[in-house]
Amino acid sequence: MATILVTGGTGFIGSHTCVELLSANHDVVILDNLYNSKEDVVKRIEQISGRSVRFYKGDILDDTILDQIFTENTIDAVIHFAALKAVGESMEKPLEYYHNNVGGAVNLYLAMQRHGVHTIVFSSSATVYGQPKKVPCAEDAPIQEATNPYGTTKIYNEKILSDLCAAKKDFSVMLLRYFNPIGAHPSGLLGEVPNGVPNNLTPYVAQVALGQREFVRVWGNDYDTPDGTGVRDYIHVVDLAKGHVNALDYALHHHGVQAVNLGTGVGYSVLDVIHAYEKVCGHKIPYQIMERRGGDIAENYADVSKAKTLLGWSAQYDLNQMVADSWHFMEKLNENQ
Ligand code: NAD
Ligand code: UD1
Repeated sequence: MATILVTGGTGFIGSHTCVELLSANHDVVILDNLYNSKEDVVKRIEQISGRSVRFYKGDILDDTILDQIFTENTIDAVIHFAALKAVGESMEKPLEYYHNNVGGAVNLYLAMQRHGVHTIVFSSSATVYGQPKKVPCAEDAPIQEATNPYGTTKIYNEKILSDLCAAKKDFSVMLLRYFNPIGAHPSGLLGEVPNGVPNNLTPYVAQVALGQREFVRVWGNDYDTPDGTGVRDYIHVVDLAKGHVNALDYALHHHGVQAVNLGTGVGYSVLDVIHAYEKVCGHKIPYQIMERRGGDIAENYADVSKAKTLLGWSAQYDLNQMVADSWHFMEKLNENQ
């Protein structure tokens, strides 16, 4: 049992991870500035897990609160989720993204160093691979220049943490490269609350299914994929959360840096996702084929063998379960609005 500081712990992936950490008997301390989440998520995490959580409302850019947290708690490791994550917005506000996602992260790593905490699990992304030359994509595929500042902040963090591990042999770093996290907690109490017009596919499809938007805009059907639409490795957020518990256990017992893909190893097209959603919501979902979206790749899905051999983890849930849980959460959210 360890005590874990979870930055961004009230967010989409962080909240699910807190639930899995608690159920694996770890203690959880959350730091979140609530920029993209709500404090009542803490109660929901406690409701699902039947355990209590220590919550600090604050910013990773703020040394005072970081020092306070590391002084008031015996932190064994950090899982660092806190970041801004809207790709389009990052192109309009690059400085804010570098400040928060790189400056804030370095600030956190410095605080860890000051307080002798040397174990960190970092939220990276399959975006670091760009369009890989071959799929399934393994961790040794080359890192490619990102098409937007958000993606660049992930590459920079990977580099910074790798340099840290090269310099300080007692540090342990997991770079978890998430593929496309979707779904929600089966209780319907946790999920992703879309903010404005969703950029990502599943929240958009859900809003069309609920009648809040007219049709799904399918960004291109002329890719070199089975139905011409983009193919991605969608992963249930609960599976992803469980992967963090395994990664943490590994990091607590080893030194050095490891990059690990978290995906299912299966690729689904945009039309596959729309059709899976139609099955759970029980009606047709209108869509229109549009021009390709700038910066999009044709396909990517994970080679998941390293996660299995190194962490003993593999994803359990299929696309039907992901969309069923996503739909359950979205319907509940809609009823309560
Ligand atoms: P999210 O926005 O739901 O959660 C991030 C949380 O961090 C939010 O609660 C936000 O309030 C908080 N936060 C942001 N800046 C902060 C700061 N300076 N100080 C304190 N708290 C701060 O996002 P998510 O989908 O849960 O993503 C979590 C992490 O995973 C992010 O680093 C994201 O880049 C990464 N990631 C997400 C995806 C995805 O598809 N959701 C894919 C790959 C990687
Ligand atoms: C996007 C980001 C990526 C980020 C990830 C997680 C871009 C170019 N990439 O990845 O950097 O790490 O989200 O937040 O923004 N699609 C539609 N219609 C829509 C939305 C999406 O057809 O309204 C298609 C896309 O073209 C793609 C697939 O659905 O083929 C998945 O898109 P999305 O959910 O945005 O994820 P990524 O593009 O993989």
